[in-house]
Amino acid sequence: MGLPALVGLALATFAVALLAMPHAGRAAALHLMLAVGALPLIFAAMSHFIPVLTRSRAAPPALGSLPVLALAGGALVVVALGLPALHWAQHAAALLVAAAAAGLLVWSRRRRAGMLGRAHAGLAWYEAALACLIAALLAILASALWPAQTIALRRLHLHLNTLGFVGLTALGTLAVLMPTVAGRPDPAIASALRRDLPWAVAGTLGVALGAAWFAPLAMAGALAWSVVLARFLAAWLRNYRGEIFTLHGAAPLLGAALAGFAASLVAGAAAVAAPALSPVSAFVAGFMLPLVSGAATQLLPVWLRPGVQGEAHARLRARLGRYGGVRAALFAASGLVAGAGHAWGLLLGAATLVSFLVPAGAALLRFHLERERTLP
Ligand code: HEM
Repeated sequence: MGLPALVGLALATFAVALLAMPHAGRAAALHLMLAVGALPLIFAAMSHFIPVLTRSRAAPPALGSLPVLALAGGALVVVALGLPALHWAQHAAALLVAAAAAGLLVWSRRRRAGMLGRAHAGLAWYEAALACLIAALLAILASALWPAQTIALRRLHLHLNTLGFVGLTALGTLAVLMPTVAGRPDPAIASALRRDLPWAVAGTLGVALGAAWFAPLAMAGALAWSVVLARFLAAWLRNYRGEIFTLHGAAPLLGAALAGFAASLVAGAAAVAAPALSPVSAFVAGFMLPLVSGAATQLLPVWLRPGVQGEAHARLRARLGRYGGVRAALFAASGLVAGAGHAWGLLLGAATLVSFLVPAGAALLRFHLERERTLP
């Protein structure tokens, strides 16, 4: 499956899952969003970016089977979580996705070993993210052997996946994407990414192990992550304030995503004292929705028609980004409300997403028809 199709699948599953979450089984709906929507898209995006980061040729076609395997594993886990009779299938799904993640990680390490010179600093973020995903799935498998630890292992899984797998992938990508969106390359990024990765990994491990077994460690982990996020936010406010606080474009959405990630971390720390808070809801509504719609605004034109970028690409990007600033504010509000534990925050997120999907569908159709007309 191509990247544009996976973007469409991800955004559609996000909308359905958010609408279902207050009614259907929460874990199944969440996995519809994370394991069916986000996981295959992340695998395909990594397969696209790893050759860029290692300055090597594009991924071989066989690698395209990994996002499909991930999608199959994701669908299986949703069914297994939705139907108690199929509980055993969770473990099959975990094995399948862990095998696909290990395949991608081994391929990335080979590309790194085969290149001349030093790989881009973003590559280590992707590799750390894949290692977190594998560890998160091993935690699910371990709970079959160690049932008394199921609750602790579920917490380990949750944090390794959200902060580790999705968080590290997203921040490693955002660091490179924002300068592209702004059209101003930032030479300081590589050293910032190298400096911040140990903090982000230590933060993720601290929060995950601490939430599972030793609460004070989770607070230390959250502090380590907040160092990374504070530096990121300060750099973005310094360099991209004009692009972020505006009515249109992808930048406001990427800015909202970064703020949403920080807010979900704060909600996670505060939830220890205020259990009504819902950090996972803040994460999906306040972070993932602006992240994927913002990244799609910037990347869909290139992914749909790679090669020389012309007027038609710029027109599509402008159409996708129309009122991006308004949507960013609505996603931020939805993350805050959902994170405070009110289900209507998720519905606000879904409605805002639909307000992107409908005009985006029309813009993509025009992009396609304009090309038909100009072809000889
Ligand atoms: C594909 C293999 C996967 C399996 C077998 C799996 C399995 C599970 C299980 C058994 C739970 C506990 C559910 C409960 O408490 O009822 C869980 C929770 C969770 N998982 Fe997964 N998962 C998988 C993939 C993922 C992925 C890819 C993500 C994120 C990117 C993810 C994020 C979460 C989160 C956030 C929770 C906590 C849900 C809540 O707050 O209720 N999982 N997972």
